[in-house]
Amino acid sequence: MALTDVNPYPDLHCMWPSEKVRPFSLYGCQQKCFSSSQSSNLKEVLDELVPQEQKRVSEFKKQYSDTVIGNVTVDMIYGGMRGIKGMVYETSVLDAQEGIRFRGKTIEDCQKELPKAKGGEQPLPEGLFWLLVTSKVPTQQQVDWVTKEWNNRAHIPQHVVTMLNNFPNQLHPMSQFSAAITVLNLESKFAKAYADNVHKSKYWEYIYEDAMDLIAKLPTVAAIIYRNLYRDGTAVGAIDSKKDWSWNFSSMLGYDNKQFIELLRLYLTIHSDHEGGNVSAHASHLVGSALSDPYLSFAAAMNGLAGPLHGLANQEVLIWITKLIEKIGENPTDDQVKQYILDTLKAGVVVPGFGHAVLRKTDPRYTCQRDFALKHLPNDNMFKIVSQLYKIVPPILLEGGKVKNPWPNVDAHSGVLLQHHGMKEMNYYTVLFGVSRALGVLAQMIWSRALGFPLERPKSMSTDGLMQLVKKQPTQQTQEKAKAA
Ligand SMILES: CC(C)(COP(=O)(O)OP(=O)(O)OC[C@H]1O[C@@H](n2cnc3c(N)ncnc32)[C@H](O)[C@@H]1OP(=O)(O)O)[C@@H](O)C(=O)NCCC(=O)NCCS
Repeated sequence: MALTDVNPYPDLHCMWPSEKVRPFSLYGCQQKCFSSSQSSNLKEVLDELVPQEQKRVSEFKKQYSDTVIGNVTVDMIYGGMRGIKGMVYETSVLDAQEGIRFRGKTIEDCQKELPKAKGGEQPLPEGLFWLLVTSKVPTQQQVDWVTKEWNNRAHIPQHVVTMLNNFPNQLHPMSQFSAAITVLNLESKFAKAYADNVHKSKYWEYIYEDAMDLIAKLPTVAAIIYRNLYRDGTAVGAIDSKKDWSWNFSSMLGYDNKQFIELLRLYLTIHSDHEGGNVSAHASHLVGSALSDPYLSFAAAMNGLAGPLHGLANQEVLIWITKLIEKIGENPTDDQVKQYILDTLKAGVVVPGFGHAVLRKTDPRYTCQRDFALKHLPNDNMFKIVSQLYKIVPPILLEGGKVKNPWPNVDAHSGVLLQHHGMKEMNYYTVLFGVSRALGVLAQMIWSRALGFPLERPKSMSTDGLMQLVKKQPTQQTQEKAKAA
């Protein structure tokens, strides 16, 4: 049996995409992968989990170290390494048909099971972070503990505020965000501990501290950028220690509408993680493997997220829809929308918000945002256009014959929800995505250091080298001919 066909986490149903796969324990017993600690202190829970997981991974590696798990073709190498299983990433797994699972949980599961704010319906991102780190659904008490920690760690040094205040207005919010995160690394406890020759078995503890500090500080940094660019530099105000992370972020941005705060809780939960191979997660994983501290590693992730084929697509979608409205009005006919899409493709431009490198179905992150819109803003004109695009774009892309996934992704919907609630500054949207992405990549970084992952260093080839290599090997066609003969 190939290793890829078994579920190593049978009793938790975690990290495994399909319930249809028969559970099978690698060790032949129904052992829990993680502890049952009820402490509300995340660090205490990790103190218990880390040695258990280190042991489990080490035994697994010993037993299966030379098991072959896949083939690599020339197409894969030239094709952005699609499909090559080349890294371990624990916090979430993306299934091409079913979408993202956070430690085995779908978005719907998270909406049902994770603790919510009083009177709220959407999960608190604090709970999602706990789930990503521990593989357990947290209690309300545990989530409250995380909120309190983040509120206590939110302060940012004056020199970072001064730097942000001095940036020119033309500098893209993502460039400002990334620069501020890099500069914040003066606060890194990991960098200080490393300089003091801390033993490598302790690395993960300092990464944990930095992860908690950085996540706590990001909303303040992001809100200062927003206020400087779009609200005449007005003050973000103080953190309310009794309120959750999203409430405080919303308040610092200047939004007190309950529905917007709920939207933010959903938004910050669903954009957090999308397994390890996407540009932002992979960038932070790679840079972190050099033992660059979490601030430097996360800044690298943000520079990747700022690309139009990745996170910036949510800005691109809204710019594209705005131009559509300018050109043909707020209530376009299907034929007019179709022509607009065809004109886009004819100009050699991608239709933003559609397609995905891994997914082959409608992104469930799109679907849950659509559900939110159907409930709260069914008559919004832009939402109606988004719904029209959902109907019209996929058949056109399919007809073109080259797109592997014609369905909408997360970015096709998020901007429309934000603009409905008054946040109309499209250039800013990727910063919100970035704040959320910290939850996933930093949760993973704790485990990357706890499990002692080494410096990442894949082998690259030159085209000449590849040509030499393939000459020595029969192609699939010649193998098939040989078989037939
Ligand atoms: C996400 C994305 C980069 C994935 O790229 P990918 O894995 O190379 O996708 P595919 O294998 O389906 O691409 C095959 C071809 O279809 C094209 N294609 C893919 N999505 C397309 C889209 N939305 N509009 C037009 N063409 C598209 C690709 O550019 C590629 O063209 P090429 O052969 O001329 O280079 C791509 O779908 C895209 O550019 N989408 C729009 C941007 C976006 O929404 N990004 C956010 C992703 S979450």
